[in-house]
Amino acid sequence: GSSKVALQDPLKLLGAEMGLLRSNVQHLLGSGHPALDTIAKYYFQAEGKHVRPMLILLMSQATNGLAPGWEQRRDQAAAAELKREQGDEGLGGDDIDEPLSPPSVLNDQNPSMLASAKSFFSDPLASLRPAPTPTSIAQSIHQTHLLPSQRRLAEITEMIHVASLLHDDVIDLAETRRSAPSAPSLFGNKLSILAGDFLLARASLALSRLGSNEVVELVASVLANLVEGEVMQMKGNVPGKEGLLAGAGGGSTAKGPTPEIFDHYMKKTYLKTASLIAKSTRATTILGGCGVKQGWAEGEKVKDIAYSYGRNLGIAFQLVDDMLDFTASAAQLGKPGGGADLKLGLATAPALYAWEEFPELGAMIERKFAGEDDVEQARHLISRSSGAERTAALAAEHSKLARQALEGLPDSEARTALDNMARDTLSRKK
Ligand code: FPP
Ligand code: MG
Ligand code: MG
Repeated sequence: GSSKVALQDPLKLLGAEMGLLRSNVQHLLGSGHPALDTIAKYYFQAEGKHVRPMLILLMSQATNGLAPGWEQRRDQAAAAELKREQGDEGLGGDDIDEPLSPPSVLNDQNPSMLASAKSFFSDPLASLRPAPTPTSIAQSIHQTHLLPSQRRLAEITEMIHVASLLHDDVIDLAETRRSAPSAPSLFGNKLSILAGDFLLARASLALSRLGSNEVVELVASVLANLVEGEVMQMKGNVPGKEGLLAGAGGGSTAKGPTPEIFDHYMKKTYLKTASLIAKSTRATTILGGCGVKQGWAEGEKVKDIAYSYGRNLGIAFQLVDDMLDFTASAAQLGKPGGGADLKLGLATAPALYAWEEFPELGAMIERKFAGEDDVEQARHLISRSSGAERTAALAAEHSKLARQALEGLPDSEARTALDNMARDTLSRKK
């Protein structure tokens, strides 16, 4: 019936959770310094898609209860939460530091900067958004099938993602993000970088408190992967060689991308986007009882399913992102679009596929579209090519692999919602 359909809609399934996530992140990011506080929270004011937290929460719901001892794990978590709610802080307390300085002192700040920042903080959608659940978190563990540690992991993941966006918008000279001025354009590069660092620091602190070294290892390795992916993209370093097209034996003469160049692109795509999704969906199954320490042999299989789902969905997600850069406008995307990657010198999947049909793209790709009319010409050639369709087809293959991975889990509402998310990644418009 229709209620079943509604329950499988991820946003309806998790609507209240996303409200809670926002308010918890605000809390985790509190700083006594007004500028830091403001910038660190800035991208959370806008309406993000919250793809990563939704995937983590749904994967939690789809796998909780599989590992032996779930009831005990759940009841212990509920008891600990209850103790905390009753004022006995204990483990998991969030107040880490005294404020750096009284929040009222603004005199070392540029007042006009703060004024313009403030105007973006009024939040007209606030009343439409579900309020944080008023019921006890301890009670909600039974209703939602989510552990507090898994919610926290979802928050940590979104914080890491937003940290990477703050740094990314400096690197990419982006003017806009989430349909508003980007942080660097509003606050400058230096404060944006520092705010990203602050988010990472608070995410690390929260991560250390989850109480699982296996999870800390996984998520720490993601941070390295994000940087590796970004540097691969910047340097185009096919191992052992220099230059974007080093694998092609010179782009201007090559007929199209060599397998080495395409592999490089796919590896970069995994590192910069899919790694965070794959490893955080894997990590949540560890919190649910599939960790090595629990000694449940089948746990490895569940972890691998979560990883495979996240990896393939993440790759599909980024492929669609790279396609939308050509097929959607900046206004639609709420961030630079319309060939923005070309302006940054980047040849993504649509350009690589188009190169097979239009060999003249090779020289442009090799000089990173730095020639006089390169960006316009390349856009024109790519739009006449099947690059966008072939990128969509590759994304569809990965979406299918993600959905196949789910077949290893028992049927549930959450599994169906995960399946829908893998399907809908292909048709997203922003
Ligand atoms: C967005 O890609 C950016 C990323 C997916 C990762 C960026 C990673 C870094 C800047 C390394 C630093 C990492 C941390 C954790 C601080 P995009 O530019 O293709 O997408 P966009 O169109 O959304 O800007
Ligand atoms: Mg970038
Ligand atoms: Mg960018």
